[in-house]
Parts: sequence; structure tokens; C-alpha cells
Amino acid sequence: MGIAGKILIVDDEEDALENCRRILSRVPYDCVAASDPGQALELIERERPGLVLTDLRMPKLDGIEVLAAAKRIDPGVQVVLLTAHATIETAVTSMRYGAFDYITKPFTGAELVQVVRRAFESDRSAAAVAPPPPLPSSRKASPGGQEDAARIVGTSAAMRAVVALARKVAPTDSNVLVYGESGTGKELFARSIHQASLRADRPFLPVDCVSLHDSLLESELFGHEKGAFTGAHIAKPGLFEAADGGTVFLDEVSGMSANLQARLLRVLQERQVRRVGGTRFIKVDVRVIAASNQNLEDLCAKGTFREDLYYRLNVIPIALPPLRSREGDILLLANEFVRRFVERVRPGAGTVPTIEPAAADLLMRYPWPGNVRELQNVMERAAVLVEGATVTWAHLPERVQALVEKDMLPADGGSFKQAKQQAVESFERSFLLDLLKRNDGHMGRAAKEAGVDRKTIERMVKKHGLRDAF
Ligand SMILES: Nc1ncnc2c1ncn2[C@@H]1O[C@H](COP(=O)(O)OP(=O)(O)OP(=O)(O)O)[C@@H](O)[C@H]1O
Ligand SMILES: [Mg+2]
Repeated sequence: MGIAGKILIVDDEEDALENCRRILSRVPYDCVAASDPGQALELIERERPGLVLTDLRMPKLDGIEVLAAAKRIDPGVQVVLLTAHATIETAVTSMRYGAFDYITKPFTGAELVQVVRRAFESDRSAAAVAPPPPLPSSRKASPGGQEDAARIVGTSAAMRAVVALARKVAPTDSNVLVYGESGTGKELFARSIHQASLRADRPFLPVDCVSLHDSLLESELFGHEKGAFTGAHIAKPGLFEAADGGTVFLDEVSGMSANLQARLLRVLQERQVRRVGGTRFIKVDVRVIAASNQNLEDLCAKGTFREDLYYRLNVIPIALPPLRSREGDILLLANEFVRRFVERVRPGAGTVPTIEPAAADLLMRYPWPGNVRELQNVMERAAVLVEGATVTWAHLPERVQALVEKDMLPADGGSFKQAKQQAVESFERSFLLDLLKRNDGHMGRAAKEAGVDRKTIERMVKKHGLRDAF
């Protein structure tokens, strides 16, 4: 058997290892096993397996870390995670990190063999060119290809209006203030404005004004000279210098202290910076795009934000509408996120799942407090859970599903018969969901437990669109 045909199994439980080994004696690939993740990494290095099957929960190093390390050692290796029901969210993370797939414990021998076959048959070059796993801290790492991620999606009138405004201001050098609730796309717009400006070939440098301590933010923005403070062993230019000719993106600008606000105002007025501990003035040519999810005018009225700075930053205000106020964009975005996700984690898979009407209806009714970012997370999760061609009701998180129950009874005017019918349907659906969950999606077993025949279960599963939920 060639080296590429080797399988490495990683699990801290000897029994589980033995079980996998036994099952995999059915496939024509050599198996090596490691019960210790450290040893696993050594084996990856030495044996170069084509496929790594790793348990997700292990005491020393978890499966995600094994996955990331394996991909670093050999970007072409395929990794399949073995995970328990309760860790669906982690499965989502694993797909983001470039796992080939995951299977839920307990699995049958046939399931394991099938995923192994698929992994070996899959296009290896696709695994190798998949983007390197993003760092866990890079919340802003974009999904999909670079171009995809930079594309603003939306055809609602509200969205068209802000896109038109952004286009218009992009080529000017005016400072821009982007407002909007969390997750509405402030950073996406800031980047797009920079990209469409004459500064596009110069840097776009974002800085989060709330996550950094005051003095750290000061030296981050304006730089420091050698010896300016303890630990300043070398001189360092700040972001304003580094972005010369480009754009600085001040995220959550309301988080700046009074001192820093004053410093920033001076830089904007004089177009030059003085590093911390320095005396020289350095000319900078920088456009500032600031973002805030708080109303800066209110903060000015309260006296926590300088009014003169506000006017400097707010030359052109762009207000991004919350997602709930542009219903027309919800399904467009939802479909787009499923497509991007599938294309990224399963390149070449071909089919992109569609969203069934009942699920679409829930997506339309959910208020999306976390706006587009929340929708994106929900759809990535669904894309991981879906195994067939349709995203159903059951692939959505509970908070979204819950809307079924709340709106179940007609508010008024509905007849008793209708209300009863809806109540029965809803009961049936959740009963079925629990039943199948308990039986790992096995319809035969579920039928036995419920004391009905298999046909009945199959019919109910079809009716409620749960066929691909397990
Ligand atoms: N109109 C849109 N089309 C496509 N993707 C979008 C759109 N709006 C937002 N997104 C995506 O949603 C995610 C959140 O957007 P972004 O980070 O720009 O929001 P934000 O307003 O800066 O959020 P926060 O206030 O939480 O920092 C990003 O992945 C972004 O690409
Ligand atoms: Mg942001």
C-alpha cells in the first residue's frame, strides 16, 4: 500500500481505537494508531498518512488542534473528526479549519468506511489548496474566497441606497463615519470604500479602539520613539505612518479616551503625527474611516465624545440598516453564505443545498439581533449539518426554530380546527425530532421505540422535511 493510502487514527481511548481498526480492516489501507496526540503529530510527520481520523475530545490536545497541526505539516492530508452530538458547534469550527468531514458518535461501521472511501476518492489537490486555517482570534477572517468575502450582497432599496452612497464617496478623500448595529457590515463597507478609492493600492489598516488599553492604542496609532516607555527598545512607526497614502479604519471609535481623542483631532487637523516620546513631526496623508455602533451625537451631548472630533470624522455619514429592516435581503444573503461555505470547505462538491420553504419562512421571521454576522453563522452551521440537498427547519438553531411554536396559534380569526391542526403538526414534529435524535436518525429503531411501523416514520420524516437532518 502506498504511503498516501495510510490512515492514522487518533483517540485517547484504546477501545475506540481498536473498534476503528477492526472496522477499517475492511478497506485496503494501512492503519496506524495513536492514543496520544503528541505521538500522533510525530506519526503524521513520519508516516505521512493520507487520512487522519481524530477524536474531538481528548485531554491533552483536542481534535481541532490535531487538525490544525496536521494541515501545517502536510496541507494535502485529509482529516475527519469523530464527534459527539453535543459538539455540533465544534464541528462547524472544524470545517472552517479545513476538515474533510466529521462523523457523529456513535457511528456504524458502514458510515466510517464510507467517509474513508470518500476522503480517499476526493480531490487531494483541493485539500492542499484550501486556505490555511485562520487563527482562532481572527474573528474577522473572511469566509469564502477573498473576492467573495469582499462582495456586498443585497438588493433591498435600503441597501442599494447605502451602496450608491459608498460608491460616490469612495473616490473623494473625505473622512467617512459608518454607523450601524453590530454585524451590519461596517468593516465590509469600510474596506469596500478603500478598495474603490484612489488609495486602493496603499494599505488599509484597521484598529479596534475598544480592545486596546489607552497607552497601547496611542503608540499603536502614532508610534513611539526608542525609550519612550519601559519596554520601548526600538522606535516604531504607528499606523498613521504605516498607512501613509492609504486608509486607517478606526473601529468602535467611541472607545477612545479623551486624551486620545484630542491627539487624533490634532493629527486630522495638522496632517502630521508626533510619535510618543518624540519631538519630530512627520507628515502623513491618511484617510480616516471610523465606525461606531453607538450614536456619536448622543455621546457628544453627554460629553464623552468631542464634538469637534465628531465633525471631523462625520464628514460623510453612512448608516447601515439593520437586517430586520431589509427583509428582502435575508434569503439572498442566506443562500449566498451557504454557497460560499460549501465552496470553501468542499471545493468541487458541485451541488449547493437549497433552503426549503419552511426554513426560509423562519429565517424571514427571525429578528436577527446580530444582523448579517449572525445570519452568516447560522447558515454556516446549517451547511455543516445538512447532508442532502436541502437545508430544512431542523438545521436551524433552536432560537430560530422556536418561532414555530410562538407563532403557531393564529392570533385571531383562526378557527379552532385550524389551531388544533397546527398544534398537532408542531407536536408531531418535535416528537419526531427527539425520537430520531435518540435513535441517531435510524428510522427502523425509531419506529420500534414509538411502536409504529417504519413506513409511518418515513412518511412523517418526509412531511416535516427532516430527511436530511440526521
Ligand atoms: N451586505 C453584506 N453582504 C455580504 N456580506 C456581508 C454584508 N454585510 C455584512 N456581511 C458579512 O457579515 C460579517 C459581519 O460584517 P462586519 O464585520 O463588516 O460587521 P460590523 O458592522 O463591522 O460588525 P461589528 O459591529 O460586530 O464589528 C462579515 O463576515 C461580512 O463580510
Ligand atoms: Mg466591525
